[in-house]
Amino acid sequence: MELRRPLVVGNWKMNRVPSDASVLLDGLRERLAKVSNVSVVVCPPFVILPAAAAAMDKTSIAVGAQNMHHETNGAFTGEISPNMLRDLYVTHVILGHSERRTHFHETLGEINKKVQAALKYGLTPILCVGETWAEREKGNQEEVVRRQIVSALKGVSSDLVSQVVIAYEPVWAIGTGKTATPEIAQDMHSEIRSILWEICDESVARNACIIYGGSVKAANAAELLAQPDIDGGLVGGASLDAEEFFEIVSCAEREYVGPAAPIFGEGPDFQSQQ
Ligand code: 13P
Repeated sequence: MELRRPLVVGNWKMNRVPSDASVLLDGLRERLAKVSNVSVVVCPPFVILPAAAAAMDKTSIAVGAQNMHHETNGAFTGEISPNMLRDLYVTHVILGHSERRTHFHETLGEINKKVQAALKYGLTPILCVGETWAEREKGNQEEVVRRQIVSALKGVSSDLVSQVVIAYEPVWAIGTGKTATPEIAQDMHSEIRSILWEICDESVARNACIIYGGSVKAANAAELLAQPDIDGGLVGGASLDAEEFFEIVSCAEREYVGPAAPIFGEGPDFQSQQ
């Protein structure tokens, strides 16, 4: 199994139009050309995917979508299928983003089907999980994240789970400027490794790529990315500025600790609970 490496993903959300996207795409390509130790994925809206794939052709920058339907084709007006994405040279897909869970009422079951469909078509799912502020205030954050992960990965073999990127995005930190402290983020990332150990095995847990999202900027990226269980970032607003996004990628290159850190000194929490 491949050792994990840092990953920074830019989620443009519903921003930019095709006719003005080339400035940002060209800016990203030029700045990121020399980055070799960090995987980078750019996720623009569907209508910009062809231009993004063309702009990133022959670079190490991958292109991802922000959502997809789980079916291959059929009467699903307005939807985009995994094989359509593959046909556009898309390699990654963000699934279960909290904005989709909230505004589009995506259910745990639907997200599970999407994860399975993405893997079937060779797309890397970037599975988003995270609690609301109300859930954290009640102390339910670990239970919420556990439920989201366990249901999204139901029926997925350990081999395939190892291909899933997990993005911890506390809902209260998204677009609010309120970043989780490095300690809060590290605690949850370590918990997510414990959950993966529980549902798969130690090797999957140790090598899983777990990234943090929620108001990541150049100014706070270094302290987050220096945490031993944080493998990178899922960046929203700051990914719309090529220079700022490049700064975040550079932080990942400088600060990454990765699997060298002794993560499982005392074993996962679930063992002590048994
Ligand atoms: P912001 O970086 O704008 O807070 O968005 C985070 C996010 O939702 C990325 O998917």
